Amino acid sequence: MKTELASYLCTPGTLDDIEITTFQSEAEEVIEGVLNSSSPVWYPVLKGVPCFLQGTLRPNLNWFQEKYNLPSIAEEFERESAKEQSLTNETFSDKWRRFQNYGLESSHQEFLYEWYCKKFGFSTLEELQAFYQKFEYILEVGPGSGFNTKFIAENTPGKVFAVDISEAAFTTFENTKHLPNCYVVQADLMDMPFHDNFFEFIIADGVLHHTPDTKKAFLAIYQKLKPGGQLFFYVYKKMGAARQFCDQYIRESFTQLDPESCYKACEGITELGRELSRLNAKITLTQPIPVLGIPAGTHDVQRLLYYNFLKCFWNEAFDFETNNMVNFDWYHPHNAWQHTEDEVEGWLRELGIKDYQFNPANPNGISVLLTKPVP
Ligand SMILES: C[S@@+](CC[C@H](N)C(=O)[O-])C[C@H]1O[C@@H](n2cnc3c(N)ncnc32)[C@H](O)[C@@H]1O
Repeated sequence: MKTELASYLCTPGTLDDIEITTFQSEAEEVIEGVLNSSSPVWYPVLKGVPCFLQGTLRPNLNWFQEKYNLPSIAEEFERESAKEQSLTNETFSDKWRRFQNYGLESSHQEFLYEWYCKKFGFSTLEELQAFYQKFEYILEVGPGSGFNTKFIAENTPGKVFAVDISEAAFTTFENTKHLPNCYVVQADLMDMPFHDNFFEFIIADGVLHHTPDTKKAFLAIYQKLKPGGQLFFYVYKKMGAARQFCDQYIRESFTQLDPESCYKACEGITELGRELSRLNAKITLTQPIPVLGIPAGTHDVQRLLYYNFLKCFWNEAFDFETNNMVNFDWYHPHNAWQHTEDEVEGWLRELGIKDYQFNPANPNGISVLLTKPVP
């Protein structure tokens, strides 16, 4: 953790100022330390990352407390949904320990940034790069490996903050610590250690639907956005009946597995995706099938199955394990809500947001770029 990060942080909830005490440092980074405010609660810096997790979500800190002779942690605020959230964290802590280079390899980047352009409604990578130039304070919520946090930090003169609840925070830190304008925090997006109305741009890509309540998660990050600032989020879209049936049926079974067994269980599904994709076959439906949400027209066979019957991801840019991880990411997390565009539009209307666009980047996701109204 870079020491200047402390000046941007505050205690979650009470928003008190924070001071840092350094125990161990390496170059410019505090590797172990403690963050204090006027309240008796303290927050550790572990492996270079300040940790604001509370209650059930907090790792066991007895060793740290003894090592640095710190007082016992006072009784603290605990969300009712903390247990549920901690189940989802197991999926992502495991995933981002295994796939630390996801999105950082050049073979991944063409696919990922072409997709980001579509999600933001841009036609070129240059437009995406120029977009980030204009913000001073940027937040990525749920960065995973941190590949996008890194990309943003490399393309802005502003400061880029990343908040992840799982051990992904350590992977993001390792992948971005060399960048002088990049700061990583481990926290629940529901209780972020930042002042309200602070960030000029916030991105939560594939994150909000993995919390116990997508709408509440959206409201929590929106609170941190400055009026006039922009926010991008991507959430899963509710698909047709057959796909919903398979998703539910498989998830009921796969969410019960430990991560290792779930990766194994996904392999057949990944192979199916690969073989269908390599068929490179198309069919034309002259009539739609409204009951399943399938439009008329020419369909790639793998995509037709993927979108309408069974998530069986395959992309030749990735190796087998990475493709399998994308399928694992769908079937294993305890929380993975799906939404309709009408529902999401309702959230925006409730907040009086008028300036927004839904970008049609892919059939099974909802990509929203909005501007917070200035009162
Ligand atoms: C599917 S991954 C997406 C990672 C990255 N945005 C990407 O597109 O590759 C979801 C990420 O959100 C994080 N996450 C889930 N719930 C969160 C919460 N309540 N607060 C902060 N991060 C959360 C997970 O730990 C995980 O790293």
